[in-house]
Amino acid sequence: LGTAELVIVANRLPVDEVTAPDGSSTWRRSPGGLVTALEPVLRQHHGAWVGWPGGVDQEIEPFVSDGLTLVPVPLSAEEVEEFYEGFSNATLWPLYHDVVATPAFHREWWESYVEVNRRFTEKAAEVAAPGATVWVQDYQLQLVPRMLRDLRPDLKIGFYLHIPFPPVELFLQLPWRREILEGLLGADLIGFQLPGGAANFVRLVHERVGHETRGDRVFLPDGRIVRAAAYPISIDTEEFETLARSEATEKRVAEIRESLGNPRTVFLGVDRLDYTKGITARLRAYSELIASGDLDVEECVFVQVATPSRERVEQYRRLRDEIDMLVGRVNGDYGPLGRPVIDYQHVSFPREEMAALYRAADVMVVTPLRDGMNLVAKEYVACKFDDEGALVLSEFAGAAHELRQAWMVNPYDINGMKNALLEASRATPEDRRRRMRAMRAQVKEHDVARWAATFLGDLG
Ligand code: G6P
Repeated sequence: LGTAELVIVANRLPVDEVTAPDGSSTWRRSPGGLVTALEPVLRQHHGAWVGWPGGVDQEIEPFVSDGLTLVPVPLSAEEVEEFYEGFSNATLWPLYHDVVATPAFHREWWESYVEVNRRFTEKAAEVAAPGATVWVQDYQLQLVPRMLRDLRPDLKIGFYLHIPFPPVELFLQLPWRREILEGLLGADLIGFQLPGGAANFVRLVHERVGHETRGDRVFLPDGRIVRAAAYPISIDTEEFETLARSEATEKRVAEIRESLGNPRTVFLGVDRLDYTKGITARLRAYSELIASGDLDVEECVFVQVATPSRERVEQYRRLRDEIDMLVGRVNGDYGPLGRPVIDYQHVSFPREEMAALYRAADVMVVTPLRDGMNLVAKEYVACKFDDEGALVLSEFAGAAHELRQAWMVNPYDINGMKNALLEASRATPEDRRRRMRAMRAQVKEHDVARWAATFLGDLG
């Protein structure tokens, strides 16, 4: 048995491998919500993190990076294709996000999912100390709780789903629905972003597996009780605010606005390049406002940052082409010489640059078709320490349940989005400030430290 009192099991390790010009390689902390969320908790508990290093066939021994003990789980090329790109991101991802893209069901993908979940389980079982707490993360690893309980009944096991848990009718499409439900029930506590997701899960367990349930509790035949409840995830609010307040950021904000031609209104979108994010409809709404003259191309710009993601999956490739074409057409049709209507950045920026962008933005536009939480919305709010700025937010983001003072939109309703963009950009400073203040109070109080402490406290 191992020595870690807290083990995080997630598909990815919280580091990226960077190769120097001389061919040597090092590990650097990777950006992203999940890492941000868990790193502080893990340090506190001297824990270990089990995850995939992101490449192919990397047989690497556990190592310490930046004070974190990392336990790599290698994937073969075939497993990257079948477990990661296939079952995780072309079956579960679209199915759990309201089938906004059509999920593909392939039996070989499922077999790979089972096999890789088993490998993660074995690594976790190796490093966990007797009686340790193991916290399994997200949709890629839903079988781990059950497999781990079979191997190590002494452990306390938690599971957290970062993405939405779908409505019962959609979940039932999954040929392996029963196995997934049983897999999750291996945990003592199952966390969801929203109460609705937890309720969907409990209903399925009751109706399809036949277990007795009461409220958020499931009673298993062996006497074990499993709880399923909502724990909305958040960000390190203070870290973002500190970044936003720094002098370097201040300077960078001025540079950014200058480079954009000092427009009156900067609209900003920041997303992984993913079809759930509603990027196309959002840009269409904006360009219609430019075309009609409701927004003046000389006074506004839309900055869209789209971080490259899952680029070998067909639907992501198609989305990229679609956005390239839309942006090209809009800029060609309406952009004055040397000034794009949509400043499109297909890159991943460091957090410092993100903080500056958030500060530079007058209107933040977050319009996913479905999103578990959306941390970008919270990051924006955290960076607006002067209470300036406006947030346009999709009703279908988990964040809408907390950031209630945003300008809410239905991302399928283009006219509705156009109205919201206009209203948010024309709102009085008092109105914006009142809303921002309320949202800032929310993210200050409900930060990621509290999220993790609440979940782990309840698990304990
Ligand atoms: C979402 C998921 C995470 C995932 C992240 C990045 O936030 O909930 O589990 O790690 O996207 O996606 P990727 O496929 O690159 O890991």
